[in-house]
Amino acid sequence: MLLQHLLGTTLPIIQAPMAGVQGHALAAAVSLAGGLGSLPGAMLTPAALRVELAALTALTDRPYNVNFFCHEPPAADAPAQAVQSAWLALLAPYFDELGVDVATLPAGAARAPFSAEAADVLADFQPPVVSFHFGLPAPALLARIKAWGATVLASATTVDEARWLAAHGADAVIAQGLEAGGHRGHFLHHDLSAQMGTLALLPQVVAALAADRPGAAAMPVIAAGGFADAAGVAAARALGAAGVQVGTAYLLCDEATTSALHRAALLSDAARHTALTNLFTGRPARGIVNRFMRELGLLHPGAPAFPLAAAASGPLRAAAERQGSGDFSPLWAGQNTSGCRAVPAAVVTRALAAGWN
Ligand SMILES: Cc1cc2nc3c(=O)[nH]c(=O)nc-3n(C[C@H](O)[C@H](O)[C@H](O)COP(=O)(O)O)c2cc1C
Repeated sequence: MLLQHLLGTTLPIIQAPMAGVQGHALAAAVSLAGGLGSLPGAMLTPAALRVELAALTALTDRPYNVNFFCHEPPAADAPAQAVQSAWLALLAPYFDELGVDVATLPAGAARAPFSAEAADVLADFQPPVVSFHFGLPAPALLARIKAWGATVLASATTVDEARWLAAHGADAVIAQGLEAGGHRGHFLHHDLSAQMGTLALLPQVVAALAADRPGAAAMPVIAAGGFADAAGVAAARALGAAGVQVGTAYLLCDEATTSALHRAALLSDAARHTALTNLFTGRPARGIVNRFMRELGLLHPGAPAFPLAAAASGPLRAAAERQGSGDFSPLWAGQNTSGCRAVPAAVVTRALAAGWN
């Protein structure tokens, strides 16, 4: 089945959900342009999710996607507390430098996995598409979403993960290559060396899913990671993609809420050097290399489990940003920032879609 039929869109272009840098405005703009706009739910309380969904559906009656994380909530036991204490001790010089009082650090996690409470909010809106990062929710929660006929998408970083998602209820798989900005979506294996760039991953996922369904229509595969222009989109199509999911190229769009510091970094030479780091949240994510990453090392074995590392990095970031510095900010971006333009999202959507013809 054509991806556009599955999603109800006119274009095979999905604006990647990007928690922290966008809300309903970007999603609505992309949906109105004929693509699939996405609302990231990972950092929203159920009440905030309801407000965003109301705002989004007031702007468009076109199909849209709502996205959630599906991580295992971290343990709050004694070993986890010991990791947290050691991490805070390691960061103490930065707290001192930036005047952050460790006693005021938030205790909880700023990113909750998809929950029954979030599903209750979704049920009132019945979004036509729901996507997940870090696997899929428990079968009962997934069944609630499927009950209103939603199309379910989820990210895979390996062939094994793509197969697992296809076997456990996804309607299409997003093949997330290593170039991609933001968090890696892995959930079966945590070994980053098993992950591939988009050009390598995409055709292998397409072939594996087709082989798993001999004689039947193959499950659509959406390519993600590194797409910045029409030529890239054409390449994805040539390699068997049913569509593309694009994040980084939308970061400078008028409708995104990307901070001024993040926008400046994207426009600077610094954007040529991105890397995977676990310092900000505890899970590897790709962002522009900054002082925090350079000084501590990109992937630190002492970082608290996702999303608990954010309890320390968040206040450091806020304090540095108040001084006009992005040294401690998660400047999430993919390897290919060449498509980033300060234009309406409809312009980016149309430019990408031109590669599909
Ligand atoms: C700033 C930023 C935030 C992101 N946040 C999310 C998110 O909340 N949920 C999600 O599923 N993917 C998220 N991603 C990853 C995207 O889904 C997608 O894999 C990626 O943007 C594709 O690569 P590209 O950035 O090179 O286009 C994020 C990416 C970026 C750049």
